[in-house]
Amino acid sequence: MKPRKIQEGIYWMGSLDWDRRLFDALIPLPDGTTYNAYLVRGTDKTVLFDTVDLPKVHEILAQLQDVEKLDYVIVQHAEPDHSGGVPMVLEKYPNAKVICTPKCQAMLQDRFEIPEERFQTVNDGDILDLGGRTLEFMHLPWVHWPETMGAYIKEDKILFSCDLFGSHIASTDLFVKDKARVFEAAKRYYAEIMMPFRKIIAKHLERLKNYDIRIIAPSHGSIYDEPQFILDAYQEWTTGKPHNLVVIPYVSMHGSTLMMVDFLTEELVQNGVDVMRFDLSEVDIGKLAMALVDAATIVIATPTVLTGPHPKALYAIALANLIRPKAKYASIIGSYGWGTKVVEQVAAALPNLKVEILPPVLAKGIPKKAELNALSEMAAQIAQRHQNL
Ligand code: FEO
Repeated sequence: MKPRKIQEGIYWMGSLDWDRRLFDALIPLPDGTTYNAYLVRGTDKTVLFDTVDLPKVHEILAQLQDVEKLDYVIVQHAEPDHSGGVPMVLEKYPNAKVICTPKCQAMLQDRFEIPEERFQTVNDGDILDLGGRTLEFMHLPWVHWPETMGAYIKEDKILFSCDLFGSHIASTDLFVKDKARVFEAAKRYYAEIMMPFRKIIAKHLERLKNYDIRIIAPSHGSIYDEPQFILDAYQEWTTGKPHNLVVIPYVSMHGSTLMMVDFLTEELVQNGVDVMRFDLSEVDIGKLAMALVDAATIVIATPTVLTGPHPKALYAIALANLIRPKAKYASIIGSYGWGTKVVEQVAAALPNLKVEILPPVLAKGIPKKAELNALSEMAAQIAQRHQNL
């Protein structure tokens, strides 16, 4: 795709990756993704924000064909989906320097053989005058990795936000048109990329309240020319209270655990609690991650395989532990044949979650009256706790 004009002197470059179906070999990308780069011209200097993933480098080199002089490549983030083309762009422009954080320089040099003299690191708040346009660099650590930064142009009121506020969508919409669609994609993205650092992200949001932001140009997805909706969404996701929602990731081999899930679902609904269930035998793990953004309670439902949880349940548990949702309560239900260690093993696999573990319910074989009563009690306890969220 050719460069697209955002406004005079500022252009989108990059690549639409329509066919990518997995990010980090983890989160499904039903709508593909984009790798956004931006060309910004001042009267004196021209800069390029980021590049693209390595397989797409030919696209950005073609976009740069008519750009005779480039003074700086601003690398906001060392992850290869943005930095993959940096060596080739530096080769095309032998006088261009890389601007990045000191941590980013080290990471880039861990991956690419870029000579020391090609770097110019910046501190938080440093200003670069392009002539008629000034860039203010903002260190924004953990808007995915520790080295990340963004930049703000006060003359244009544009924030280049790195991975922050991104969405995995390959779309020809230069600016966001379908907010509902972008909200879904941005939430899926937030769940994997940002949620583990939500307290730090919340501090970045506070900082950004001091800036007059007309446009947010993220590193993935369409550009926000009405950015308030994504700012509001991030505020809710990072600092909002958990919802009156129980997420039940479950797997069942012969139906006993499923009977318990069905019974608990009904009891929760009768107690006024919302439920989202995810069959781990064929789950879109991205949808589960999105549900975990909001849930106040997680109930893992797994049969015992030999002595421990089903491996598919362990995968979901590992994901939940990794992305650190703000749930306050958790429990375990499931069936077993002759013996089980699922409770100990599930609890041990969730060290990052600051949750109260509610009494688990395990059934030998199919659930009988005692287990069903215990599930009713679990539902009542959850409902009661959710009233005080
Ligand atoms: Fe889009 Fe963290 O790279």
